[in-house]
Amino acid sequence: MNEIFKKRRSIRQFTNKKVTKEQIHSILCSAMVSPSGNHVNPWEFVVVREKEKLSKLGGCGKWQSFVKDCNVAIVILGKESLGV
Ligand SMILES: Cc1cc2nc3c(=O)[nH]c(=O)nc-3n(C[C@H](O)[C@H](O)[C@H](O)COP(=O)(O)O)c2cc1C
Repeated sequence: MNEIFKKRRSIRQFTNKKVTKEQIHSILCSAMVSPSGNHVNPWEFVVVREKEKLSKLGGCGKWQSFVKDCNVAIVILGKESLGV
C-alpha cells in the first residue's frame, strides 16, 4: 500500500484513450466511501465528458487549463450548509 502512495503523482497531459463507464463507476465508488465529519457526506460528483464543457472547465481557474485536454473530468461539489 505504501508503494501506491509513494508512486502517485499529478498528471496534466493525457492520451486519447477512452475512459470507460466501468472505470468511472469504480472511481466514484472509491470516492464515495471517503469518511466525512458526522458521516454527512457533503459532496456531489458531476462526471463531465462533453468536450465543450471540459473546455469551459479548463478556463474556469488559473491552474487547470489542462482540463480542456482530458476526456473526462469529475467535478466535486461541496455542500456548504447541511443544517446539522
Ligand atoms: C489542495 C490541493 C490543490 C491543488 N490544486 C491544484 C491546481 O489547482 N492545479 C494543479 O495543476 N495542481 C493542483 N494540485 C496538485 C499539486 O500541485 C501537486 O500535488 C504537487 O505539485 C505535487 O506534485 P505530485 O502530485 O505530482 O506529487 C493541488 C493539490 C492539492 C493537494
